[in-house]
Amino acid sequence: MKTLNMNLEENSYSIFIEKGIMNKIGERISDIYSGEKIVLITDDNVNKFYGDKICENIKKSGYNVFKIVIKAGEKSKNINTLNKVYLKLAKFKITRSDLIVTLGGGVVGDLGGFAAATFLRGISYVQIPTSLLAQIDSSIGGKVAVDLEVGKNLVGNFYQPKAVFIDPLFLETLEKKFLHDGMGEVIKYGAIRDKVLFENLEKYKDDDELIENIEYVIHTCCTIKKQVVENDEKDNGERMILNFGHTIGHAVEEFFNYEKFTHGEGVAYGMYAISKNSEKMGITKEGTSERLKNVIKKYELPHVIGKIENEKIYEIASLDKKNRGSFINLILLKEIGDCFIKEIDNKEACKYLSVV
Ligand code: GLY
Repeated sequence: MKTLNMNLEENSYSIFIEKGIMNKIGERISDIYSGEKIVLITDDNVNKFYGDKICENIKKSGYNVFKIVIKAGEKSKNINTLNKVYLKLAKFKITRSDLIVTLGGGVVGDLGGFAAATFLRGISYVQIPTSLLAQIDSSIGGKVAVDLEVGKNLVGNFYQPKAVFIDPLFLETLEKKFLHDGMGEVIKYGAIRDKVLFENLEKYKDDDELIENIEYVIHTCCTIKKQVVENDEKDNGERMILNFGHTIGHAVEEFFNYEKFTHGEGVAYGMYAISKNSEKMGITKEGTSERLKNVIKKYELPHVIGKIENEKIYEIASLDKKNRGSFINLILLKEIGDCFIKEIDNKEACKYLSVV
């Protein structure tokens, strides 16, 4: 087992990475929670594979367990679903001394975490991420939110979990498309902070070799995320680097109504497009976007996106949470493994955000 400690003063917690941790999850939860009730929030896909197994395991540790199942997919991450979750929490008579456990990918973690942050003005929660994307990114760092029709994650909070339990064995039942979805974010960590990780991703022959090395990949990404969040919990500076590729990525996801591209696919394209533009401007080392393109293609992520108007990207980018006044903060690469934040005037954004 590998343990990372997120040091955030009174909001500190541990991230446990271990194959098979799901089989002793009740016991592990009892190390950090001594109340009576636990509400498991999951989605209908994850529920089919793991819902009963995890509930039974938690019950064996003596807890009274309730379950809330939401519909899988980004379209569920909205205020209507959240409202249904609140009503169930109220029906189960959940109090501030009870615990929410989120079991699922980014949608369940973000929505369940936001429910925990706001129900009764905040109750404790732990994350059990089941997708690669959630294991290396969204379950760590306390960003919880729901989407609005006009943009992703526009209503949310920073609310840290009490623990994160990561079991790489969950990835065995993850469809290839969603494994690759997570690879969009894994590539991001290599591109912004870790040349060796990036080179390893370039070297792995195929998905089998990736899976053989998945604990190293998860641990490396979580270590980078932990360091960045510890330095800038509330996303006012360094944490923005984690949004490399996201400005264009979010716009692509939204433009296609969250139906054509997953988050990781949007981010993959966004990293390639912004780097190709910044390379043309002489900001990014020559050859960087080609390396990005090759690794993106290898993990079956898109480097071409089809018909999307530049104006639409700028419009969606104008709602980006990294924006401050009339300025937009963009994350650019100097080269693989080295990035920086560039504050540019909104009017200049099109040079960086154009479709390639
Ligand atoms: N997913 C980006 C962040 O947590 O800041």
